[in-house]
Amino acid sequence: MAQIFDRSSNALARMSLVLTGLIVIALGVTLDSLQRSPWVTRQGQRPDQPVPFSHKHHVQGLGLQCQYCHTSVEKSSYAGIPPTKTCINCHAQIWTNAALLEPVRSSWATNESITWTKVHDLPDYVYFNHSIHVNKGLGCASCHGRVDLMPLMYQQNTLQMEWCLNCHRDPAKNLRPVSQIYNMAWEAPSKEKPVWCAAGGEKAGKPTAQSVDCQTSDPSKGGVQVASLSFAGLMMGGQDPNQPLSVEGVHSNPHAESTVGAGELRLPEQVSYTKFTSQRELGYYLMDHYKIRRANELSSCEVCHR
Ligand code: HEC
Ligand code: HEC
Ligand code: HEC
Ligand code: HEC
Ligand code: HEC
Repeated sequence: MAQIFDRSSNALARMSLVLTGLIVIALGVTLDSLQRSPWVTRQGQRPDQPVPFSHKHHVQGLGLQCQYCHTSVEKSSYAGIPPTKTCINCHAQIWTNAALLEPVRSSWATNESITWTKVHDLPDYVYFNHSIHVNKGLGCASCHGRVDLMPLMYQQNTLQMEWCLNCHRDPAKNLRPVSQIYNMAWEAPSKEKPVWCAAGGEKAGKPTAQSVDCQTSDPSKGGVQVASLSFAGLMMGGQDPNQPLSVEGVHSNPHAESTVGAGELRLPEQVSYTKFTSQRELGYYLMDHYKIRRANELSSCEVCHR
């Protein structure tokens, strides 16, 4: 059969195939990194706002709590942006003539709310809910960063699917006691700074997360005895904390190692608190007590796409 193409054109064809392949890969890599770039994810951007509201001044400077302004964060899917009334509570007296605050005053006068630009904005096809996260021990700072240090609000994390999944596959690395969710400076427990927790258990009749008590100073060294005693009462099988504990009750606790002398009961909080010196240990303990679902359940598509 006659050769239509000579050998060199064969090589050329192969070469162009390889080239096309390379271009496709390069394009893919570019698109992929573009898709993750801060320009697309809006990470770190500070959008123009009608009023340059500073979280740093109001939270760190004045000591205001997040829930003073974001009132629904524990109860609903939305944290909520405060109405002008919240600002006027103070700014009817403070900085009353500042030009910066003109939009606040005119909003108050005209009864039209301030139009803040959204900083965080998930696509509509994603379901997100604040209350479930904060009631299971995820602090604001775990997702929003050190808001108390932000003169202007920005988005700390990508909010992309990968970011959500990274935590859903292993929540233990981020969990903290529910009592600490607003604490911007919370640090994971360490050998130098342990955390002690005790669980009230089902009999407490409260939501699970609320019946776990955690302390950052050693509860056996006093200071929290009254609160701990009632917890310990629950630990001992729901006995009335005002009644003396039966000796059997104390002995049946696997952590009890001390002797109980006649007429002298050891303080039960010494047997019921567990000490944690690492995030992993605390994380697994809280996963158990807050009844957090397993990684595979939390990563299934229907959790976030309903
Ligand atoms: C004095 C009221 C006030 C307090 C206190 C406050 N915030 Fe805000 N927050 C606002 C206002 C007003 C906005 C909208 C303007 C902006 O984005 O800066 C906002 C916006 C935000 C946003 C971004 C909303 C969006 O558009 O995506 C986050 C996240 C946030 N706050 C978290 C916190 C956290 C965490 C705390 C506690 C450490 C806190 N805030 C305390 C008033 C407050
Ligand atoms: C608890 C009282 C209080 C509340 C509530 C409050 N502010 Fe302020 N705000 C202050 C004080 C005090 C200052 C002066 C802070 C300083 O100079 O360090 C201030 C300063 C400001 C400034 C000047 C710039 C700055 O940050 O120093 C702006 C703008 C401002 N506030 C906006 C708002 C808005 C908007 C709201 C409502 C979402 C609000 N404030 C709610 C007390 C408050
Ligand atoms: C598990 C991660 C996570 C935690 C924890 C978290 N947030 Fe958010 N937050 C988000 C995401 C994601 C959005 C964007 C939601 C959307 O666009 O629908 C958001 C949006 C917001 C908004 C603006 C929109 C709204 O919901 O009203 C505010 C304000 C806010 N968060 C405050 C807080 C505060 C205060 C806390 C702590 C009590 C907190 N967040 C804890 C992830 C989190
Ligand atoms: C830092 C950790 C963390 C991050 C980040 C996070 N989540 Fe979660 N999420 C959790 C934990 C823990 C739970 C509670 C699971 C439970 O109770 O079993 C949860 C629960 C949920 C639920 C409730 C499911 C249900 O059936 O009620 C939804 C929905 C959800 N997350 C969506 C998201 C989305 C969307 C994002 C990203 C924008 C996100 N989460 C980011 C840790 C996280
Ligand atoms: C923990 C929450 C969560 C789970 C679980 C989850 N997704 Fe997503 N998904 C998201 C978020 C958040 C986005 C929006 C990403 C963005 O805005 O960049 C998204 C976006 C998407 C998109 C749009 C394209 C893209 O990648 O941006 C598709 C398709 C998708 N998810 C499919 C799935 C499938 C299939 C599963 C199950 C294997 C799944 N998701 C599980 C949170 C989740």
